[in-house]
Amino acid sequence: MQLLKTGAFVRAARSARITVPKAPVPVPACVRPRLVQSRWSSSQATAEVPRPFPEQSVEISREVDPTKTAPESKDEPDQEHLKQKLKELAHGKKAVNGHLAGVNILGNPYIFDATTNVPDSILQLVGRNLYRSPDHPIAITKALIESCFPKPTYNHFTVADPVVTTHENFDVLGFPKDHPGRSRTDTYYVNTTHLLRTHTSAHQHAAFQSLVNDEAKGYTVCADVYRRDSIDKSHFPVFHQMEGARVWDLPVSADSRYEAQLRRKEIIEKDVYNLPTTRLAVKDPVTNFHKGSNAAQPEHDVEEVKLVVAHLMRSLEYLVNGVFEASREMMPPWQRDKMGPLHARWIEAYFPFTSPSFELEVLWNGEWLELLGCGVVQQPILNNAGLKNSIGWAWGVGIERIAMLLFGIPDIRLFWSQDKRFLQQFKCGHIKKFEPFSKYPECYKDIAFWINSSPAAASPIGVESSSGVAAAAGGDARKASPAETQPAAFHENDIMEVVRDVAGSLVEDVQLVDEFLHPTTGRKSLCYRINYRSLERTLTNEEVNDLHSQVAAKMKSLFNIELR
Ligand code: DAH
Repeated sequence: MQLLKTGAFVRAARSARITVPKAPVPVPACVRPRLVQSRWSSSQATAEVPRPFPEQSVEISREVDPTKTAPESKDEPDQEHLKQKLKELAHGKKAVNGHLAGVNILGNPYIFDATTNVPDSILQLVGRNLYRSPDHPIAITKALIESCFPKPTYNHFTVADPVVTTHENFDVLGFPKDHPGRSRTDTYYVNTTHLLRTHTSAHQHAAFQSLVNDEAKGYTVCADVYRRDSIDKSHFPVFHQMEGARVWDLPVSADSRYEAQLRRKEIIEKDVYNLPTTRLAVKDPVTNFHKGSNAAQPEHDVEEVKLVVAHLMRSLEYLVNGVFEASREMMPPWQRDKMGPLHARWIEAYFPFTSPSFELEVLWNGEWLELLGCGVVQQPILNNAGLKNSIGWAWGVGIERIAMLLFGIPDIRLFWSQDKRFLQQFKCGHIKKFEPFSKYPECYKDIAFWINSSPAAASPIGVESSSGVAAAAGGDARKASPAETQPAAFHENDIMEVVRDVAGSLVEDVQLVDEFLHPTTGRKSLCYRINYRSLERTLTNEEVNDLHSQVAAKMKSLFNIELR
């Protein structure tokens, strides 16, 4: 699930060049959003702690023509024919037509090319929309978060279609060309131009556009996001994120820009003052907004940035306090009273799309947990969306991480369970501890093999990499060469993908247990331990053996490895 994985990234990426295009980037008509107007109203929060009253979100529907893949093939007629065929297929179904192939995703046809790496097992999860089932823990958590950002100041959006362009997911947000998140080893590409969004920030541009001439001054966006990643109890290739933002326009009535800016500062200051207070015990970072790698942007007034940051931090403290207070309400009063205030701390961070940037951590069961990332939006992003005269903040959070803490859900696979024993435990607007319905036996099996060396194969666990880059939007440079777009001999996420494809959610985790360099041949041997365990039943020996030999056979046929 990992939302941020920024600890190492912060260190490594500070020096990264910010490449948000300075001139407004024309957004192709095919990705321009058509926003459905909100039909709901609600009042500004007055209570000290937000209540989980669900407010329905508005679906952002986009006029997308996803059949426009970049490299137009010479054989046009075949492509046209295939597009038509793909449209007729059921969702997630693939078609092969001579050398052409493609897929229908939520009614839109996509033609595959050399970049395609999205497997069937992932396509089958598209469209489940867990956040739409009001009693599901994902939906309950989403509603709780939305209730901290009430209408009419904030609109609430969801985006069902996870296919976005590389432009939306990376370019418009200023991701460097060699950012690890762009790698095929970390991201599911439908084809060269389209991918399964790796973060809800892919909708930032569209959502900011929705604020132009709108009564709302902010938004939240909730959606499912996709990352090729490791397999363990807190990582699943599909998870949910929420994104939020708030902007302030320059008042139009002012005589000069200078005066308008002064007035805007006063407004932001008043807005900070009006935010509800919390019982949270918070440690702020010592930040120098004048210089350094996490400073205010050159075009911003430092005093104004301080106010925007104060508004951002107080708003997110309100969110975190609200969410965790809601969870503490399920404890008996004597236990709750003994606990004292919740502790949180701000740390400086790096994201390509904000500066300054921060992360918020909370102390939970004696451990500091990274909860969310945020910052002051890079001005060119606002300019490109038609908000040239606005300044604003944005944040992003992984819903599963919060929901696992709130409900005490021990394994991320449970969110996808269709088992009544899981689903019937939860009720819209209520936080209650998950009661394990049973624990089925685990079954470990090892797979050991020699790999042929390649840059990406050099170190799956990253011991050689001092930078240890991990990134917003996914991507982990410890596991691959960041610019790698060609298939490497072996990448750790490859074995994860094979295991997922063969065994789906019957695997609890996959871990590298041994890494060994042959002293004379220089070849590297790796050994992974796969833990087969179903959440819903006991697996038979035969079944596990069969799955394991399928994994081995697939590894052997797909990658240039030699089983040991
Ligand atoms: N997109 C980031 C991620 O997936 C999260 C994030 C961080 C979103 C900072 C934001 C932000 O809007 O300002 O890790």
